[in-house]
Amino acid sequence: MHGGSDAHYDESQDQKEKINYKATFRMLYGLMRPEYRGFAIAMLWLGLSSVLNLLSPIIAKYLIDNAIPAKDYQLLIIVVAALFLNSLLFLVFNYFLRMRLVRTGQQIMTALKKKMHAHMLTLDLPFYAQYSVGRLMARVQSDAASLYELFTETSITIFRDILMFFVTFAIMAFFNLRLTLLLAAVLPVVAIVCSVFLHKSTTLFVTVRKLASEISGFLSEHVSAIALLQAYNREAMAAAKLNAVNKRKFEAELSAEMMAIIFYLTIIMLSPVSIAVILGVGGGWALENKITIGTLVMFILYIDRLFEPIFRLSEHVSIIQRSFSAGHRIARIMERRPAITDVAKPRFIHSVRESIEFRDVWMKYAPDDPWVIKGVSFTLKKGKSLAIVGETGGGKTTITNLLFKFYTPQKGRILIDGTDLPEISLKSLRMAIGLVQQDIYLFPGTIMQNLKLMDDAVPDALVHDAIKTIGLETFFKHHSLGKQVVEKGVNLSAGEKQVVSLVRAMVLNQEVLALDEATSHIDPYTERLINTAMQRLLTRKTMIVIAHRLSTIKTADEIMLISEGEVKERGSHQALMAQGGIYSKFYKLQFGEN
Ligand SMILES: Nc1ncnc2c1ncn2[C@@H]1O[C@H](COP(=O)(O)OP(=O)(O)O)[C@@H](O)[C@H]1O
Ligand SMILES: [Mg+2]
Repeated sequence: MHGGSDAHYDESQDQKEKINYKATFRMLYGLMRPEYRGFAIAMLWLGLSSVLNLLSPIIAKYLIDNAIPAKDYQLLIIVVAALFLNSLLFLVFNYFLRMRLVRTGQQIMTALKKKMHAHMLTLDLPFYAQYSVGRLMARVQSDAASLYELFTETSITIFRDILMFFVTFAIMAFFNLRLTLLLAAVLPVVAIVCSVFLHKSTTLFVTVRKLASEISGFLSEHVSAIALLQAYNREAMAAAKLNAVNKRKFEAELSAEMMAIIFYLTIIMLSPVSIAVILGVGGGWALENKITIGTLVMFILYIDRLFEPIFRLSEHVSIIQRSFSAGHRIARIMERRPAITDVAKPRFIHSVRESIEFRDVWMKYAPDDPWVIKGVSFTLKKGKSLAIVGETGGGKTTITNLLFKFYTPQKGRILIDGTDLPEISLKSLRMAIGLVQQDIYLFPGTIMQNLKLMDDAVPDALVHDAIKTIGLETFFKHHSLGKQVVEKGVNLSAGEKQVVSLVRAMVLNQEVLALDEATSHIDPYTERLINTAMQRLLTRKTMIVIAHRLSTIKTADEIMLISEGEVKERGSHQALMAQGGIYSKFYKLQFGEN
């Protein structure tokens, strides 16, 4: 389990925390490694195009120093043709390079997204209690997109830029050491400008990141409470607060932009200064015949190439920073392990043969929380039904959470056919017992596909049989099975969704069902339909039903009333009514309301 600090951990906090560069680098490297061939080929094109790029000033020097003084037209044409060919090949190689990088980058992106989705499916409820799925998915998309540039451009061009910088110096030194040393005098200035820029922009970047997370935290807090804010006319206040943070973020971003502009201008200034120095001093040396005109021109051409990588530095820095913060967030998710895993040799169950038993089970969600379930015991025999009723927050859903091993109880035992739950394979447990939840998730697709839980191998006839078995033919006469469900089923009413979930439970053909009934109000017509379906399910399956509408569970073999985590009353509907306790009051209240 996690420590106490983890319990209150949220996304905005994790944006503020320090990036673990080493671990993130290891993860990014791990992603790139399988694509080593793509990168190797890219390197080849990169090397070829770089050599060509470095070659052209030398060709120019040859033209000026050899072809022109010799007044050799033929040589002149050959050299110019070589220069032209050089540029053409440079473009061709560069094209190959881009194509290769785009393809490799796409492959890494696809692999990363696949890996993340697969990983997230292994994580359990404690994880999803902390993160909302929508935000997680948005995060996978946007973080992966931030990494794309790193994989397609930066990773490889940074390498080239550093290499080119030094090789250019080496070539210049080879042709004229003194002039090169003269040019090198500007290097300390460049180094200082770069380091100041790197330092300042990193600080600003961290500020922007913090403010961005503050804004997203503020938004998610306030958007979820929007109805409340509007009800009390507090929107204006919230908007003003948000504006203030937004303004600070804008200012920090503006400063970052200004830094980049100042950096550019300084470097742009240095370029003509260097050229002037080379022309002035080098020109003097040329007059004294110490160097050739060709060498002078070659130096001028190289100076341009020298400053190019420095210009790109600011771009690289921002991409690397963005990539590392995205990579860090991805690494944090990938590090998560499911809280509950199988023991070394788990038992596989195919169905419940005899009984499900809770023996004095105690549970709390976090070490500092109060007990949510306090010594709950019950035995559900195969073929029988147990209804759990009670006030909201009483602990009913927690009981199903425990049965499905979404959480582990701190005390007590849960047994299936006498085997302790921790010894049973998680997968086989969830195959053996069907769960129909309060928040019914519907996939985008047709109703029919949803009833089959998106498994097209299930024949239509099975679905029609299931509908008939639980008596919902009339409902589906008015509601087409071909109807498209939009995202999360927002175009279906709560009642319709429940009907779908009941049929789905029937289609999946699980012997044992746990059903957590939705609280939402349903029209009397749909309620009657659901009642019919429920009665039929109750007689056909082993069921645990958490019910809010007591009319649906009157026929359950046993009814258990839970309040504040404790079983307060239990027995059949008739017995409980005769007892005249909480249940009977509850029932009369609901019945009276209707
Ligand atoms: N994931 C969770 N983390 C912390 N507390 C929780 C969590 N889920 C439920 N609780 C708390 O446990 C108690 C019982 O909740 P629950 O079992 O959902 O009740 P019911 O289903 O009867 O309405 C409530 O006080 C609720 O606030
Ligand atoms: Mg509940």
